[in-house]
Amino acid sequence: MKDAGYAIAVFAGDGTGPEVIREGLKVLGALAEGGPAPWHVREYPGGGQYYLARGREWEPEAEQAAKEADAVLVGAVGWPGATLPNGDLAGRALVLGLREGLDLYANVRPCRLYPGVSHRISGGFRAVWEPKNVDLVIVRENTEDLYTPARGRLRRAGATEVAIDTRVVTQKGTERIVRFAFELARQRGRGAPEDGVRRVTCVDKSNVLEGCRFFRETFDRIGAAEFPEIARDYAYVDAFTQWLIRGPEHYNVVVAPNMMGDIITDLAAVLQGGMGFASGANIGAEHAMFEPVHGSAPKHAGKNQVNPYATFLALEQMLRWLGSRHDDRRLAQQADRLERAVATTLAAGGAQTYDQGGRSSTSEAGDRVAAAVRGLSS
Ligand code: IPM
Ligand code: MN
Repeated sequence: MKDAGYAIAVFAGDGTGPEVIREGLKVLGALAEGGPAPWHVREYPGGGQYYLARGREWEPEAEQAAKEADAVLVGAVGWPGATLPNGDLAGRALVLGLREGLDLYANVRPCRLYPGVSHRISGGFRAVWEPKNVDLVIVRENTEDLYTPARGRLRRAGATEVAIDTRVVTQKGTERIVRFAFELARQRGRGAPEDGVRRVTCVDKSNVLEGCRFFRETFDRIGAAEFPEIARDYAYVDAFTQWLIRGPEHYNVVVAPNMMGDIITDLAAVLQGGMGFASGANIGAEHAMFEPVHGSAPKHAGKNQVNPYATFLALEQMLRWLGSRHDDRRLAQQADRLERAVATTLAAGGAQTYDQGGRSSTSEAGDRVAAAVRGLSS
């Protein structure tokens, strides 16, 4: 426990990032009313638009603050035309850079469908999956695989002849992500909706790729030796895409290498009502960064119309992580309170934004959830 409160460094970033972060901070403020807040928030500029204006992705003080904070919250990065000289996305420092620089090796993406949320399929809004059947967490390796910076081009006389990305799968990286997934299944307390079984599904392409064979072997070795009570389950990534959609109730915790994890988490977001509900925690041994996963959505920017629920759910993940890391029950209680506020607002059909077929604005959704927070004691 810290007397001064936990330091939260916030980077609203690009596009719709500032709009969803504004609502997130509104809700965080509502949680802190009526007592000294156990945290303090400081905002810093940065990202692709900042790069276009200033020629750097962020200031050295902001980078330092991110590295020293107890937790980091990032809105979104990426803006059309904002590209670094080497071709990388300007703003990557805030997301990919922090994942690398702070060794945030576990990307934890819960996929839960709240009652009241519908699915946008074929241009219509319908309840396709049932809330009781969608309650899984995807644990994505976050530091290696195809994201390893071992890539480049062979240019001859200025023309690209070959472009190479190297897929790197290490023992350290694999062991720790697999262990993280099994630990999560152990701590989570509830199993798969289908049968209540606590299970970890290893998603890979081990019928073809060597790195995936190693990933699966490591999964089996660690699971058998250290987590014998957790069921082990397997899916090749191609088959997984259809099984997940047909029967999400089978899944409890899913673990995957970085690139496949990136892809399947966007797919899974369809089950939870879209990217507007998808939050992610990037967790390391010492640090963590939390984000709504949807990105900067340039075409919606400045219109106060995007869905801010992913940011509320990212904050819930942040409060829960801080609470467990510092053994601080106040934070765990606030996380519960925020989750109840989100669930009750959604169940009441509350504050539905365009992606849900509604007409509410981003700030109306924030107002509703903040009001629900005030109505629930901590
Ligand atoms: C994500 C995003 C990032 C990734 C992008 C913005 C670099 O898609 O967090 O899933 O590829 O990891
Ligand atoms: Mn992604």
